[in-house]
Amino acid sequence: MYRSHTCGELRIEHVGTNVTLAGWVQRSRDLGGMTFLDLRDRYGLTQLAFNMESNAALCEQARKLGREFVIQIEGQVIERSSKNKNMPTGEVEILVGKLTVLNAAKLPPFTIEDETDGGDELRMQYRYLDLRRGPVQQKLRLRNQVALETRKYLDSKDFLDVETPVLIKSTPEGARDFVVPSRMNEGQFYALPQSPQTFKQLLMVSGFDRYYQIVKCFRDEDLRADRQPEFTQIDCEMAFVEQNDILNMFEGLIKHLFENVRGVKFEGAFPRMTYAEAMERYGSDKPDIRFGMEFVDLTQLAQSKDFVVFNSAEAVLAINVEGCSEYTRKQLDELTEWVKRPQIGAKGLVYIKCNTDGSFKSSVDKFYTEEDLKAMANRAGAKPGDLLLLLSGDLAKTRKQLNELRLHLGTELGLRNPNEFKPLWVLDFPLLEWDEESGRYHAMHHPFTSPKPEDMHLIDTDPGKVRANAYDLAMNGVELGGGSIRIHDRDLQSRMFDLLGFTKEEAQAQFGFLMSAFEYGAPPHGGLAFGLDRLVATMGGSESIRDYIAFPKNNSGRDTMIDAPSPLNDAQLKELGIKLN
Ligand code: AMO
Repeated sequence: MYRSHTCGELRIEHVGTNVTLAGWVQRSRDLGGMTFLDLRDRYGLTQLAFNMESNAALCEQARKLGREFVIQIEGQVIERSSKNKNMPTGEVEILVGKLTVLNAAKLPPFTIEDETDGGDELRMQYRYLDLRRGPVQQKLRLRNQVALETRKYLDSKDFLDVETPVLIKSTPEGARDFVVPSRMNEGQFYALPQSPQTFKQLLMVSGFDRYYQIVKCFRDEDLRADRQPEFTQIDCEMAFVEQNDILNMFEGLIKHLFENVRGVKFEGAFPRMTYAEAMERYGSDKPDIRFGMEFVDLTQLAQSKDFVVFNSAEAVLAINVEGCSEYTRKQLDELTEWVKRPQIGAKGLVYIKCNTDGSFKSSVDKFYTEEDLKAMANRAGAKPGDLLLLLSGDLAKTRKQLNELRLHLGTELGLRNPNEFKPLWVLDFPLLEWDEESGRYHAMHHPFTSPKPEDMHLIDTDPGKVRANAYDLAMNGVELGGGSIRIHDRDLQSRMFDLLGFTKEEAQAQFGFLMSAFEYGAPPHGGLAFGLDRLVATMGGSESIRDYIAFPKNNSGRDTMIDAPSPLNDAQLKELGIKLN
């Protein structure tokens, strides 16, 4: 028996008990006659006491232990003279009678405590050490709980967990595929799934009715705080459903998770907003509705004068930053520089200060009278003491830029409370998206998404206007999940591939299996997938998903611990029939 108790278990009622503990040495303190060690395992910390007077040899042995040595001790639980109220085991310590070193440890490259001195790169390289730290373990525990409660909820609703293959053919989800060469089929490649999309639809054709899977997905795209090349989805599909059935079912899942994992209860139904409205009010399809600062369209008012920049713009949009009329020149200059950074790409930023004395001060005073500025302030609902910030240009770009500015200010002004959770269903996404680069339409969600029947008349004349039966769940400015009601009719699916610029042969070669399946009795079906990493990070109050993944990749898609990706040797390449340039 290695241990009788864990390091997080002993309390005042254990005083007098003889125990055996095992774990890692977190730190030690020598106080002359006594030496104290903190012993750590996954469950907590326990203080060990070694007494020079009663056992000098053992005390000497303890003093030689370095950080992260793995040890086993036997001893008696005693009451501490100076108690630590911040530690669950803080009322007791173990008076050690026997010490065994199970394994020595080199000095770790950073401090393995809740607060660490290790930088990101170093901690990733030694992720197995970083994972010993309490806050990191806490995040993975949260993830475990969310996954467990997800299974409980979906199981209670008759969803079946069905695994789908990882070596597949490309699924056009919008990102690049990771590919795997096939030795047995030289010159041919599998693709790793960007999602199990087509398989879950086939399971509906097979009559499984309700499917789910907590599943790894792979996308070769540029990385950000909320994107990893391999990530996990809670992937779901249901047959014989309409959009509302799906929204209700998965709103139930999210409520169940927040209530059972975070103790957060959502009152009433989640708010719903169309995509068009979200873009108009927030310039984003995943608005953070924890705070206001909604967009105000000042185009008409702003174009009444001789300011060429505004007059030549498709749109002049503003946000009202409440209580910030006293922003200094320096602060405004900084904001201007911020929006002009290449990542945001605005040409400039116009401000209108609504001074507390009722007067106005603007960066474009030259072109607008006090009355003009007042009219704009009124339109924006600005009060004395508020600050209006205006961006102008092409409508889509201006919305995007103003969205970034709004989020930036929300963060700066402390309006984005990580312990407040504001879900929002975004509905009626456009079916198609025009891609400037390739000069053709792309599916906004994916090619299996059904168009709204009431918009079908536009499909040949104005395809960009057709809305889809597609929905996302946003929370706190994060897209937690998305899905759609699918096409289940061969002809419509084939039409969709035409619209997306596939030739009949290409469509047949890539998706013949799905279109054939639709000819053998495909039920109406739909579904959605949540990003598990994003869901857990949001529940944990973080925007970065990396901490919630045990072994994540860095921003260049590398795992610096195992040093991947890495080259193949010549023999491997030859066997696969691959020649490198
Ligand atoms: P979608 O592409 O919207 O839909 O993905 C679903 C959810 O997965 C998460 N996600 C990611 N998380 C981390 N890193 C990434 N690179 C990443 N990409 C996506 C997001 C997103 O909302 N098959 C469809 C679902 C369906 O139609 O049922 C799909 O994959 O949280």
